[in-house]
Amino acid sequence: MKAVNIALPKGRLGEKVYEMLRNAGFKCPEINKSDRRLIFESDDGLLRYFWVKPSDVPIYVERGAADIGIAGKDILLEYNPDVYELLDLGIGKCRMAVAAKCDFRDSSERTLRVATKFTNIARNYYESKGRDIDIIKLNGSIELAPILGLSDVIVDIVETGTTLKENNLEPIETVVPISARLIANKASCKFFQEEIQNIHEALRTQCEEK
Ligand code: PRP
Repeated sequence: MKAVNIALPKGRLGEKVYEMLRNAGFKCPEINKSDRRLIFESDDGLLRYFWVKPSDVPIYVERGAADIGIAGKDILLEYNPDVYELLDLGIGKCRMAVAAKCDFRDSSERTLRVATKFTNIARNYYESKGRDIDIIKLNGSIELAPILGLSDVIVDIVETGTTLKENNLEPIETVVPISARLIANKASCKFFQEEIQNIHEALRTQCEEK
């Protein structure tokens, strides 16, 4: 029997999902023994786990290198991969928000300078509001941009709000709520229909028990 390949996002979220799958019976004790190895098979040979950079999960799933995976809604909205979204796991909750310096006053007469890693989400959001923006694509430490005058606002993930607060920024608008999703490759859903259905059910039950 062929194992179902699942791409888990490296980090706390992926570990939490592994715990859920372990509780549902897809055990793989080896997984806790190494933080360098990237591929692990469950004891029963039914699941093969890959640890993947979170933003790469949809690429593996879309191209079929992984049959299923766990990705944040932020990544799905940004890259719009051609995959099925099967389940909202209700974990990894945060929000995509617009934030600015506490004394920022917007003026619709000016083009708004927006720094972000999530250029598509930001563009779609402001387009829906009919607002002209100048996107400044950054890859990290986005909070620096308004402080140094590189941008007027940022569009970024806010979880506890601590990062904003510690940099004297404040959230001014919520763009969209975010949580982790189970996604699946379209062809794999036919080929592994029953197996994926079982994993889907197992995760759904684990979510409900939380
Ligand atoms: C995100 C985001 C903020 C931080 C917000 O970064 O870019 O910096 O989390 O969290 P808080 O509201 O709880 O302070 P993340 O840790 O995902 O890493 P990244 O900088 O690589 O995106």
